Parts: sequence; structure tokens; C-alpha cells
Amino acid sequence: MTARLATGNPWQLGDWQLFRRLAVCATAIFLLSVPPLRVAVLVSGHGSNLQALLDAFREPSAPATIALVISNKAGAGALDRARRASVPTATIAEDGQDAATLLALLARHGVGLVVLAGYLKKVPAEVVAAFRGRMLNVHPALLPCFGGVGMYGRRVHEAVLASGARISGVTVHVVDEQYDHGRILAQWPVPVRPGDTAETLAARVLEAEHRLLPAVVGAFARCGAEPVCSLAAEAFGPAPSLQPEFADALTVA
Ligand code: GRF
Repeated sequence: MTARLATGNPWQLGDWQLFRRLAVCATAIFLLSVPPLRVAVLVSGHGSNLQALLDAFREPSAPATIALVISNKAGAGALDRARRASVPTATIAEDGQDAATLLALLARHGVGLVVLAGYLKKVPAEVVAAFRGRMLNVHPALLPCFGGVGMYGRRVHEAVLASGARISGVTVHVVDEQYDHGRILAQWPVPVRPGDTAETLAARVLEAEHRLLPAVVGAFARCGAEPVCSLAAEAFGPAPSLQPEFADALTVA
């Protein structure tokens, strides 16, 4: 039997080496040809979470791209952030209930994932159904506590403080037909400190939102919803800046 030599000419490689090189090439071609996941972000306010997403997915090589920003508030600061980043924007009716317009916008922009980032209206059931498992929300507390109808913005943090809870945090979950109810994909604890007001707690929680949300969207873009929890945890782990505070919260009487 004639042994084939490994030389620079691929057609003279041994079977195993040839197979490996072809596998590497095929993988590279596959990775390069997978277009980034097109994400629409729904917003009602300042859009600091939108900004975190714009910053995280700016590079063309990123696994996701912010393809569209939709607001139910014409004057939302989030729309300015989108325009500055040259991302298309759209404004919908303030009550957010025009499902046909929303669906048409999402289809026209080839959206594969919808992210609610400080969006204060219920998404119509037809839109939730069309994006079942592909619509995420960020909530500024540890669900299933401190969520549901009317629990948004400052009210969430006031409720956490009134309860005496020592730990609050961030939840990213799949959106279903009920407020703050769908499957939880990732959470991150944030300490409640003695003397906290709704404002100081909100600011600390927001810092964690800005880290967790892009980590989850990135993990979702790479692998879908199933493995997203473990990937997001790997991606950012316990934050060095928050971890000592978390320890404090557990020990301070
Ligand atoms: C965030 O805390 C978000 O979780 C909540 O509203 C706040 C909006 O912040 N739903 P921003 O508009 O992203 O700055």
C-alpha cells in the first residue's frame, strides 16, 4: 500500500488530515455565512438599556444587530439614541395595541428577536404569538416577585424597599401573554443597602440590567433560548464591582 505524504498540496494529504482541513474550512465558511440575528428593541423611555445593546452589538462580526427601534412615545429619548447610531426607528400608537402595524414593521425589517427594554405597554397577543419564544423582556427585580400589572419603573423599587427584601436584581425572561410572566432565562442579584431610596436602588439595578441584557441577547443569538441561561452565566459571571456589595448585603444586620 502506498502511503500518502502530508505536503502543501491538499490532494496529497492523508485521509484524516484532508478530512480535518475540509472540516475546518466548512466550519469557517458556515460561521462567516451566518448573518447576525436581527433584533428589534421596543422602548418607551430614556433607552439606557437600548444603549447597552447598541454598544454591545456595534461590530459587523457581532452575533446580533439592532435592526429597528420602535417606540410608543414620539418624544422618547431612546429614539434619539437609535438615530445617533443610524438605526431605523418607528413610532406606533401610544397604547401599543395596533398589532397589524407592529407585525408589518417587524416583517419589513426581517426581525428574528424582539427585546422589550423599558417598554411600558402590553404587547398584543397576535404579536406575542408570532414571536413565541423570540421576545424577551428585562425587568428590574427578581421575578416572580415584584412583577405583574402596574409594576414598572419606580413602583418596582418602592415595593422591594417596602417589603424589607435584602436582595433585588434583574430578570430577563421570555414574553408571554401575561405581564412579567414568561420563562425566566437569566437573573442577577443586586443588594438592597440600608438607607436605599427607590432612586439609589434603581440606579444599582440598572447597572446590572446593562450587563445582563446584552449577555442574554448575545447568548440567544448564538444558541437560541434553550442554553441561554448557562451561556449568559458564563459570559459575565458574578460582577467584580457588585460581588463585594452582595456579600455586604448578606452580612450587614
Ligand atoms: C429599566 O429599569 C427597565 O428594566 C424598566 O424601565 C427602566 C427603563 O430604563 N422596565 P431605560 O429606558 O432602558 O433607561
